[in-house]
Amino acid sequence: MSFNPRLRNWQGRHVWLIGAGHGIGAALAHQLRAAGALLALSGRNEAALRAVAADDAHCLVLPLDVTREQDWLQARGQLLQRWPHIDLVVMLAGDYAAVRAWQLTPELARHMVEVNLLGVMYGTAAVVPALLHQQHGSIALVASAAGWVGMPNGLVYGATKAAVNHFAQTLYLDLRPRGIGVHVVNPGFVATRLTARNDFAMPALISAEQAASAILAGLARGDFDIHFPRRFSLLLKLAAHLPYRLYFWLAHRVTGL
Ligand SMILES: NC(=O)c1ccc[n+]([C@@H]2O[C@H](COP(=O)([O-])OP(=O)(O)OC[C@H]3O[C@@H](n4cnc5c(N)ncnc54)[C@H](OP(=O)(O)O)[C@@H]3O)[C@@H](O)[C@H]2O)c1
Repeated sequence: MSFNPRLRNWQGRHVWLIGAGHGIGAALAHQLRAAGALLALSGRNEAALRAVAADDAHCLVLPLDVTREQDWLQARGQLLQRWPHIDLVVMLAGDYAAVRAWQLTPELARHMVEVNLLGVMYGTAAVVPALLHQQHGSIALVASAAGWVGMPNGLVYGATKAAVNHFAQTLYLDLRPRGIGVHVVNPGFVATRLTARNDFAMPALISAEQAASAILAGLARGDFDIHFPRRFSLLLKLAAHLPYRLYFWLAHRVTGL
């Protein structure tokens, strides 16, 4: 039995994508629209959202900054005025900077926790009452395989994504018995502006379009943990279960850091 309702037929489905102006979110918007979904697109950069919306007259553009509670409430209000219900909310907004122990600053920490973790929590607080009221719908939180186990360069980012995985597990336990689907998405390396900053070789790097297809495939299976590409994510899952002595040795050895 699948963890969640299988989301397969997108024709006429109402999908709110947060973090839709670039990268994986933009690719997901294009694929969902091609499959017949009705979209609402959010992010900070309105021009980028309008470019993704292109000439789709049905597409709503709702700019917001995920770190501002007020933005969430305003966007949710606008959405519910126009849509009869919400079938799926996907939270993709995120930021990344490679941080090693000696580069850690309170500003870097605050920024990434605010966008990657508090943003997800504020967004969840904004949409869950509406999903519970309508008694159906799904929510997908984009975390990262970097959240499964500590890795050099991932000092703050990895911790925020570990927290999103934890948050999603508890959300699933609370919401699934009440008819709401909950998914957590854990990509490996995807070629977007986030990873363009990396100056190291990224194993099993995939395109944003491949990532979007993998997310849709996971939603179609009703998976709770949608992780990809499997050739990378399964190895990392294994690594996360190794004894610490072996894992720490391996992490130094593989990354050279
Ligand atoms: N690329 C990877 O290898 C990878 C791997 C694992 C997980 N992920 C996760 O996948 C998600 C999408 O990342 P991506 O790689 O597609 O990067 P991206 O191209 O930089 O997209 C990030 C999106 O988040 C939005 N965003 C950032 N800060 C925001 C804020 N404060 N409020 C609202 N929107 C904000 C950005 O739009 P604006 O700038 O217009 O606001 C943009 O649309 C992120 O959560 C990331 O952590 C990525």
